[in-house]
Amino acid sequence: MTSQTAGTAAAAPVIRLEAVRKSFRLPDGQRFDAVRSVSLDIAQSDVFGLIGKSGAGKSTLLRLINLLERPDAGRVFVGGRDLTTLSRRELRETRQDIGMIFQQFNLLQNASVFDNVAFPLRIHGRHSRAEIDARVRECLALVGLVDKIDSYPAQLSGGQKQRVAIARALAPRPKVLLCDEPTSALDAETTRSLLETLRDINRKIGVTIVIVTHELPVVELLCRHVAVLEQGQLVEQFAVGTQDGERASVLGRELDALLRRREREALLDAPPPAAAARAEQGASATRALGAGGLAYV
Ligand SMILES: Nc1ncnc2c1ncn2[C@@H]1O[C@H](COP(=O)(O)OP(=O)(O)OP(=O)(O)O)[C@@H](O)[C@H]1O
Ligand SMILES: [Mg+2]
Repeated sequence: MTSQTAGTAAAAPVIRLEAVRKSFRLPDGQRFDAVRSVSLDIAQSDVFGLIGKSGAGKSTLLRLINLLERPDAGRVFVGGRDLTTLSRRELRETRQDIGMIFQQFNLLQNASVFDNVAFPLRIHGRHSRAEIDARVRECLALVGLVDKIDSYPAQLSGGQKQRVAIARALAPRPKVLLCDEPTSALDAETTRSLLETLRDINRKIGVTIVIVTHELPVVELLCRHVAVLEQGQLVEQFAVGTQDGERASVLGRELDALLRRREREALLDAPPPAAAARAEQGASATRALGAGGLAYV
């Protein structure tokens, strides 16, 4: 048994891709293989990154998970059900288990924040008004935006729009949240805060997150596992932060190098034990001396 499955041996993966393939017909009539026989398991409550160069097939692979793209071959299991065998109605139902957010937020511009988040609950028509009201507030609280409940998308910042999109995706209580470059349109600070929100949500409600990104710091901050795609093929996957041998891909090596650099920076930031003891002596002297002691430090 690998360490990845230790302790959860009985738990089936929430997402299982079995030899999925997807090709597209090009204008010249040729077929282009965007995803070539990819097999992948993603465990429940994991935060899983998909990385690769532009055109590697990341978005296509993500869209195969909720069958926005139907595979030419292979099978797609979510929560143990093979989506490729479902009727349209069954697929609509099962898609309630799979939320998705996008780089460009995709909010309804003419609807308030409340109505945007309520939208997936209303189209399924199974919920009372009171239930919808409570669930919308709950989801907006998860993303820290209850105070914007009556605003419209045009009145929100990019980061706030993405939070609304996350609240909307979570409203039907999905098992899985698919994220396609969710921070690419945001600045560094907003990105960091949005990633913290996603991490909190994963911890609080255990929703499995699959995130496509071309930004290695996003993987570093958020992901527990990562898979590298090259030209439609899965080159390698590993637990982020483990040093378990040579990486097979340039991106895998770059990610490891980034993590090592961060470790070194953290060591440099933290003073060596002797210096820390001296600093503490100094701090106590400062405390004892009051404001006048500042010169000592
Ligand atoms: N509907 C389509 N028709 C034709 N080709 C497509 C279609 N969708 C994707 N492709 C091609 O498949 C390949 C993979 O596309 P995909 O969007 O999955 O890449 P990606 O890794 O997400 O890239 P990026 O980082 O630029 O978003 C690309 O070469 C793209 O041009
Ligand atoms: Mg893409």
